[in-house]
Amino acid sequence: MTRKTITPTGRERTFGLDEIIVSKTDPKGIITYANHTFLKVSGYSEEEMLGAPHNIIRHPDMPRCVFHLLWNTISSGHEIFAYVVNLCKNGDHYWVLAHVTPTFNLKGEIVGYHSSRRVPDKEAIETIVPIYAQLKNIEDSASDWRTGMEEAEHTLGNLLADSGMTYDQFAFSLVKCV
Ligand SMILES: Cc1cc2nc3c(=O)[nH]c(=O)nc-3n(C[C@H](O)[C@H](O)[C@H](O)COP(=O)(O)O)c2cc1C
Repeated sequence: MTRKTITPTGRERTFGLDEIIVSKTDPKGIITYANHTFLKVSGYSEEEMLGAPHNIIRHPDMPRCVFHLLWNTISSGHEIFAYVVNLCKNGDHYWVLAHVTPTFNLKGEIVGYHSSRRVPDKEAIETIVPIYAQLKNIEDSASDWRTGMEEAEHTLGNLLADSGMTYDQFAFSLVKCV
């Protein structure tokens, strides 16, 4: 499937605190299920969404290294919590705190992935935006995408090491406990 380049509008969309955006994919990240909330917020029809690669909603501000970490984690059988900004069909964007997990068959093989996303706290996004901007800047300044991603990954690793947390712990540390 050829992906049309969507120009971000800079307009933010949000969804209800009681809503969950759900999608499922095959092992390659091709969307096999999208719930009503996902379709409503992203602006795509079920027909457009099913069979599309999950990067259909990729926002250009997202650092590549975050998706690299996501795929490394889930393809090795673990779960991950991650802050992600996504692009709607019309170029608007929405932030989520995503919980992505592998789905196993009875033999313990990964047969797909599942993601549930909630509205993140405003303060968490205020913390994440400059960090992602720094990582993206490192990626964009490198001579090629792989070097850029590795350098950004290194920076993210250092930031986490300084805070003494894994990415998951860091993501949770930003969740307001009421
Ligand atoms: C279950 C699952 C959920 C995903 N959710 C998102 C998402 O919400 N937004 C996104 O940009 N990528 C998501 N991805 C990652 C995409 O597959 C892809 O790696 C990412 O958009 C980067 O695209 P690129 O490799 O073309 O740069 C998800 C992957 C899986 C397996």
